[in-house]
Amino acid sequence: EQGNEVEYALTAQQGKMTFVDGVETATYGYNGEFLGPVLRLKDGQQVTIHLTNELDEATTFHWHGLEVAGDATDGGPHAVIEPGETQTITFTVDQQAATLWYHPHPMGKTAAQVYKGLAGLLYIDDAKSEALQLPHDYGINDFPLVLQDRTFVDGQIDYEAVANTMSTLGDTIMINGVVNPAMTAANEKVRLRILNGSNAMTYYLRFTDDLPFSLIATDGGFVNEAATMTTLTLGAGERAEIVVDLHDFVGQRVELLNGDTPLLPIDVTATRQAMDYDTTFNEIVLDDTLRTMEVTKTVTMEGMTENFLLNGKTFDHERIDFRQKQGDTEIWEIENIINEEGAMAHPFHIHGTQFLVVSVDGEEPDAAWQGYKDTITVQPNQKVRIAVRFPEKGIYMFHCHILEHEDVGMMGQIEVY
Ligand code: C2O
Ligand code: CU
Ligand code: CU
Repeated sequence: EQGNEVEYALTAQQGKMTFVDGVETATYGYNGEFLGPVLRLKDGQQVTIHLTNELDEATTFHWHGLEVAGDATDGGPHAVIEPGETQTITFTVDQQAATLWYHPHPMGKTAAQVYKGLAGLLYIDDAKSEALQLPHDYGINDFPLVLQDRTFVDGQIDYEAVANTMSTLGDTIMINGVVNPAMTAANEKVRLRILNGSNAMTYYLRFTDDLPFSLIATDGGFVNEAATMTTLTLGAGERAEIVVDLHDFVGQRVELLNGDTPLLPIDVTATRQAMDYDTTFNEIVLDDTLRTMEVTKTVTMEGMTENFLLNGKTFDHERIDFRQKQGDTEIWEIENIINEEGAMAHPFHIHGTQFLVVSVDGEEPDAAWQGYKDTITVQPNQKVRIAVRFPEKGIYMFHCHILEHEDVGMMGQIEVY
């Protein structure tokens, strides 16, 4: 079908950037110096992507949140691309509109490569997202916000100098690769597509004066109905789309905060006609059929200093924890257990699926977890039940998305047959 095929080339390459103190530092980027282009795909499209590795080390290209076959297409740790090599993947987009992302996934090196700059956003559109009345003018009222933290060492991005197995946390938060970001928006409703692209940091987002905003989408797509909230917690790897109404703030500044720390000043100008937008989006059914289904897979996460375990062990390439039939829905119970090391929150992620949260410690999830998710931050001692269905076959990873934990092996695998 014409217009239904697209082709992209994505190259992981070395770069140079100046972030602080006027000092240049070595970086990694996709098709550029740092981060990567926002790729835009449509449901039903046949996609070919040429993946080239121009780094001096092996890498992989993983599509976080994309429901593709569990082979080289998914780009997990097995799909290694050596320096100088190009691989081509092809797939058909078959999922609803969502804000996904891509990043490297080489065993033991993911944290360092993401930290140096390898990450990018992937937007999926479908007939519904195109028909909805929602802000969709890129860079005008529809903004990507990639949140990442770094500690610059004499102006350098030097992962090895700051790496900490427990959590590599930075003292500087960047948005879209910019230190001290700022933005201008018109007096209208503005859509922010937020990715926590940090290695380990959890963000507690809110606006000055606790200005309410609407959550319109979670990791895997639109929620049923816009949910009004004043704070949003995003663990590593999670995304959310929110709409904030700026029309009362002409000539003023509204600030996005992380806890109490200023993150992004938004200066509101009066250049656009404020529009009304849809607030009903999706028809996700989370009913008693799912709520009463028996748990058939249990996953434990544990560790807080050095030994990060998933189901009591660390990763090896032969490891297959579970098998599940393609297209079947099963209830998984994810438990964050406290052991002799203690416990900390772990963002749990599964490849190749968008799941629904059925319950959190037996209770209904709050609004932020009522849409499709691929990553959920599970607190110590918490038990979360999720309904998981894989539309494709293959071997998929599930793991903690604190990249340092993932790199020391807090990963399991499921075979979908
Ligand atoms: Cu975002 Cu296995 O990763
Ligand atoms: Cu993933
Ligand atoms: Cu973890």
